[in-house]
Amino acid sequence: MPMPPVTNVEDLRLLAKRRIPRAIFEYADRGSYDENTFRANREDLHALKLRQRVMIDVSDRQLGSTMLGEPVSMPVAIAPTGLTGLFHADGEILGARAAQRFGIPFCLSTMSICSIEDVAAAVSKPFWFQLYVMRDRGFAKSLVERAIAAKCSALVLTLDLQIQGQRHRDIKNGLAVPPKLTLANALDIATKPAWALKVLRGKRKSFGNLAEFVQGGRNITTLSQWIAGQFDPSLSWKDVAWIRSLWPGKLILKGILDIEDARIAADCGADAMVVSNHGGRQLDGAPSSISVLPSIVEAVGDRTEILFDGGIRSGQDVLKALAMGAHGTMIGKAWLYGLAAGGEAGVTRALEIIRKELDVSMALTGTRDLCEVTPAVLHKPKSDDVVRPGGPRLAA
Ligand code: GLV
Repeated sequence: MPMPPVTNVEDLRLLAKRRIPRAIFEYADRGSYDENTFRANREDLHALKLRQRVMIDVSDRQLGSTMLGEPVSMPVAIAPTGLTGLFHADGEILGARAAQRFGIPFCLSTMSICSIEDVAAAVSKPFWFQLYVMRDRGFAKSLVERAIAAKCSALVLTLDLQIQGQRHRDIKNGLAVPPKLTLANALDIATKPAWALKVLRGKRKSFGNLAEFVQGGRNITTLSQWIAGQFDPSLSWKDVAWIRSLWPGKLILKGILDIEDARIAADCGADAMVVSNHGGRQLDGAPSSISVLPSIVEAVGDRTEILFDGGIRSGQDVLKALAMGAHGTMIGKAWLYGLAAGGEAGVTRALEIIRKELDVSMALTGTRDLCEVTPAVLHKPKSDDVVRPGGPRLAA
């Protein structure tokens, strides 16, 4: 039977769910604890309304912009995501290729399966590298040196994972790296033979950047146990200053949700910061990223570039984030769904879907140039508009 066409990111999500093991899918698809913040990211984006405008000549639309001074075909970067090479064999290489062909930045995670060197050898343009500073500072320094040697064009230092928020699904699924075939997951994996052949029997299955940590019998058991042992709760702004001194290029600080932190981050000489709650995967109960974005833009937007992530699944979401003051956006889950659904072509599909949605939404809001998006793109309900639950909208 022919497959229905993929028309949105949710279609890619459903395909991904069918094609890869549950433990890997849910690692991307879910949030921490009760998932309040995870849900708020999406709900608060949904709650924003775009302002429909008509009879404006929008025949000539401009989606191009810049991120960290680099020209981009749309202001959307691929966010660093852990374990990407388990969503599809060579996932990081495919993601980097798709992003580069599309003209947007790709950010490789410290917790990737393909190493910095694997990706650098496979692509022609520089990519961004995301750094976790672990307990072993010598190792963190060596990762920075490797990113310099690979000519990475920006370092994205993640600030919001000194300690991991619990993701119930990862524990219940026994998520392990490299993935293990166990009695509990055998049935699930048996229904995903293409994945098993390419990933389980492929050459890259563990953390490519961390080979020296993982070798010598120090096998990673479950991901959450390993992170608890290696990540460092004692990290402080002094460490950010230290990384700033090691890294000569563009520095992006990721995981800012509070204006006090935003001010300190700007003082550290960050070229950009990412307003982020780690996709609702860390502090459950924190506000959605979109709800705090305007206050952070107001506090430090004149000193540093403000990027945004948290819940973006469509071009409409990108437009809303720009209207709330972001200079650019990042997508995590949305691109992983594309990757798991269809490799490099799946990632390209996810990006095309978002670009098309963004383009049409620009047109229907009377926006010609993405660089000129202001809050005026958002519909602001009049305060005297009253919505009666279950009833029609009435003027009070
Ligand atoms: C790591 O970055 C994670 O969110 O699992």
